[in-house]
Amino acid sequence: MEIVNHAESRVFTPDTLDQNNEVIQEAKLRPQNFDEYIGQKKIVENIEIMAKSATIRNQAMDHALLSGPPGLGKTSLAMLISKILGTQLHMISGPAIEKKGDIAAILTNLSPKDVLFIDEIHRMDVSCEEILYSAMEDYRLDILIGQGPAARTMQIDIVPFTLLGATTRSGLLSNPLRDRFMAHLHFDFYDNMELSTIVENNAKKLGVKLAGDAKVQIAKCARGTPRIANRILRRVRDYALVKNRSEIDVGDVISSLQLMEIDETGLDRMDRKILQVIQEYYGGGPVGIEALCATLSEDRGTIEDVYEPYLLKEGYLLRTSRGRTISEKAKKHLGLTY
Ligand SMILES: Nc1ncnc2c1ncn2[C@@H]1O[C@H](COP(=O)(O)OP(=O)(O)OP(=O)(O)O)[C@@H](O)[C@H]1O
Ligand SMILES: [Mg+2]
Repeated sequence: MEIVNHAESRVFTPDTLDQNNEVIQEAKLRPQNFDEYIGQKKIVENIEIMAKSATIRNQAMDHALLSGPPGLGKTSLAMLISKILGTQLHMISGPAIEKKGDIAAILTNLSPKDVLFIDEIHRMDVSCEEILYSAMEDYRLDILIGQGPAARTMQIDIVPFTLLGATTRSGLLSNPLRDRFMAHLHFDFYDNMELSTIVENNAKKLGVKLAGDAKVQIAKCARGTPRIANRILRRVRDYALVKNRSEIDVGDVISSLQLMEIDETGLDRMDRKILQVIQEYYGGGPVGIEALCATLSEDRGTIEDVYEPYLLKEGYLLRTSRGRTISEKAKKHLGLTY
């Protein structure tokens, strides 16, 4: 499998370098085949059937929409799909596609049956999205040339391809675009067993020895998210290295979690701050999302995509028509923590 990254010119600042380092580290731990891809059984089953059928038909696989909170394995799955299809994987992020020309250039450069992965597809410009409609449905580009009465559409045929769209917010996708995806695959948080297995496999890749309960402790505090499990594992590895441990025990994990300001239920500083702000500034809620984000000085998208899904799933936060409220469970938790 060859990966073509359609990234525009990059400027490196300490921040982006940090992110870049994170990306490199993450790549090392990415599942290399479906045996290493733990959990999400229904999704994997669907994909395997779609890919096999495409191979038998000798056609491109149907388009699929992958949705769910960050770090649950959408990009990893896209890589595995192109691997089993034996095609190139073209990767681009929605916000990077600014002009119709950008998307047209990518689509006309695909080889037959290639996979085009558009990350954060909900953040793509609407005019670019329209180019995708006929491309997805008829493998054709309809391009408007000129303006006013002299305007005419030009049609260009493109090769059959598979579009994989990834989004943390499928609700923000326009209906025409959503309807053109033949499969809608929704990613759920992982359970502790699955996360334990992921931690165990990745500990081997990193060459660290973990006691059984240490593995379980990492899984318990990973917010149902493999990326967070990997992040904790790497920090635990650092800790063990510095403390010269041959095997990491649960005490080492707890010490590392404390350094990362992650508590015993897996909530981090920002999670607790959200709950605390609702309690202290808004009497426990309800509070509108805009007001909440203003008080937290955080971007609405980050709160809604990154923090809320887990807080909602675990019942710390409740969403009502009048805004966000914290639950009894959250109040109890705050009482314990503060
Ligand atoms: N099913 C899985 N089995 C094993 N490891 C996984 C699985 N899913 C994700 N991971 C691990 O978690 C990391 C993050 O996953 P990935 O980048 O695929 O998430 P994502 O859904 O694309 O996130 P984002 O929405 O932020 O782009 C991967 O590098 C991989 O190590
Ligand atoms: Mg991704």
